[in-house]
Amino acid sequence: MNRYTLLAPAKINLYLEIVGDRPDGFHELVMILQSIDLCDRITVQSSSLPLTRVRCNLPQLDEKHNLAYKAAQLMEKRFPHAFNNWGGVDITVEKHIPLAAGLAGGSTDAAAVLVGLNLLWQLGLTQPELQDLGAELGSDVPFCVAGGTALATGRGEQLDPLHNPQGWWVVLGKYQSLEVSTPWAYQTYRQQFGETYLTQAEQFHHRAAIVESGALVQAIAHNDGRGIAQHLHNDLEKVVLPQYPAVAHLRAAFAQAGVLGTMMSGSGPTVFALCESQSQAEQVKETVAQQIGNPDLGLWVTQFSSQGIHLA
Ligand code: C5P
Repeated sequence: MNRYTLLAPAKINLYLEIVGDRPDGFHELVMILQSIDLCDRITVQSSSLPLTRVRCNLPQLDEKHNLAYKAAQLMEKRFPHAFNNWGGVDITVEKHIPLAAGLAGGSTDAAAVLVGLNLLWQLGLTQPELQDLGAELGSDVPFCVAGGTALATGRGEQLDPLHNPQGWWVVLGKYQSLEVSTPWAYQTYRQQFGETYLTQAEQFHHRAAIVESGALVQAIAHNDGRGIAQHLHNDLEKVVLPQYPAVAHLRAAFAQAGVLGTMMSGSGPTVFALCESQSQAEQVKETVAQQIGNPDLGLWVTQFSSQGIHLA
């Protein structure tokens, strides 16, 4: 085969806790990540020109700003023989996941390029090997390779798979013109809440407590949507919501619409709401669209997914 088309799911954070800082400038996190069924579509194809080219349906995502391109460059650097043997690569990225949204859209595209080139060049790399490469590109890339539901610690790249809750629906809301800088969100959190960071020994015990007896992990294990919704958590809401009142307002609109639970994903500005059924999710989407009444607000209905990068 000289062409593969892959689907690359977005993620939401059911849990994001910042437990410490790190010498590399990043933060020690405890997260629970959940794949959702909203996917970008990535095609990798051999080309006769000895070049890597990335095309995207969104002009603002030119090669320089596209993590998919960085993923292809990393593979080219690590596997020069394969690159030379197979000629160049044409990559197309068809975006469906909103940009700069806290949904790992760029990370999942990069993960798809790693998986796609592994297939195209018949490298035979294992999932952990692909995840190690992914960690060089971004903290969320290793999760995006495998997808499903996972506890993510360290920078977010250390993963322990969890049971996949099934059948829960999600409404996503994002103001299309609003972007939140992830480094800004983490730096502001550090300035305001840095004194609450745990020592390394405390971090160790805290992580163990979450894994062994944490209410959210228990709810996930029992596929208890209400329990999951009750224990959603995101530390970054503490800095993003006060700075962006529109995001706080959207979150309140979801809560009033009678959803199971609502929370910002990652560093935002996307807010998600958990629903019991597709029909409830569609109803919530309509209610919130009417209540906010702003054409800049994008709303999507999707559901939990157990898949990472997969063939289309
Ligand atoms: O790893 P990634 O490139 O996705 O991270 C984006 C930014 O988020 C980093 O530059 C850093 O400011 C922040 N970050 C952090 N600690 C983490 C993950 C991300 O401070 N564990």
